[in-house]
Amino acid sequence: MTVMLRTRALSKSFTLHLRGGLLMPVLADIDLEVHAGECVVLSGPSGAGKSTLIRSLYGNYRAEGGSILVRHDATMVDIAAADPRTILAVRHKTLGYVSQFLRVVPRVSALDVVAEVLLTRNIDLDTARDKARSLLLQLNIPSRLHPIPPATFSGGEQQRVNLARGFIAGHPILLLDEPTASLDAENRAVVIRMVQQAKASGTAIVAICHDADVRDAIADRLFTMSPYQDAA
Ligand SMILES: Nc1ncnc2c1ncn2[C@@H]1O[C@H](COP(=O)(O)OP(=O)(O)O)[C@@H](O)[C@H]1O
Ligand SMILES: [Mg+2]
Repeated sequence: MTVMLRTRALSKSFTLHLRGGLLMPVLADIDLEVHAGECVVLSGPSGAGKSTLIRSLYGNYRAEGGSILVRHDATMVDIAAADPRTILAVRHKTLGYVSQFLRVVPRVSALDVVAEVLLTRNIDLDTARDKARSLLLQLNIPSRLHPIPPATFSGGEQQRVNLARGFIAGHPILLLDEPTASLDAENRAVVIRMVQQAKASGTAIVAICHDADVRDAIADRLFTMSPYQDAA
């Protein structure tokens, strides 16, 4: 089994500037390992640090201790120690992230929000838009919405645009933060199928997922986290 992602003794605290620089530990000694074709679901109560862990894996938050090894090309890159350029290269090719909420860019159509990811990979505009269109339709975003910027979309529609954007490039590692939180049962089933297809093609997935049906359908394993105070 190919290890795609491995953390060792990962730790992260937040400095609370409004409270005199008080240091609040959130992650301590996290050892997580994810293999190709496997989906690990982070579980634990609200506040346990699940989103913080996903953001740290993506390099959004700087880990303060430990390592985050990610298989990138033929090497293991330590996201916890990498310079910003390396992190961008890893995100480009290897590490995809579907955040809980779509970051809406004004004036860019839903179709191009999704297609954009492929344009940075020297794929021509027509091919990129074709692929974006078919993913949006698969996620039940009707054609009439494709030319419209997603700013005015409902929460569930925005979440599906975000999912299309996250899945379009076929990153070997995907991080999903509550990808079905705003979706109805029909669309949850679509997402389950997309995750299962990605796994079958070897994608390693780390997900946060409160919906029990989705979790049971996608998880190979749970990684249980508890709030720092409880763990101490
Ligand atoms: N940017 C931040 N600054 C300060 N505290 C934060 C920040 N992000 C998260 N926290 C705190 O870290 C803890 C874990 O949050 P989070 O990772 O969002 O948990 P979960 O996703 O498991 O609900 C919470 O107590 C939260 O208030
Ligand atoms: Mg969270």
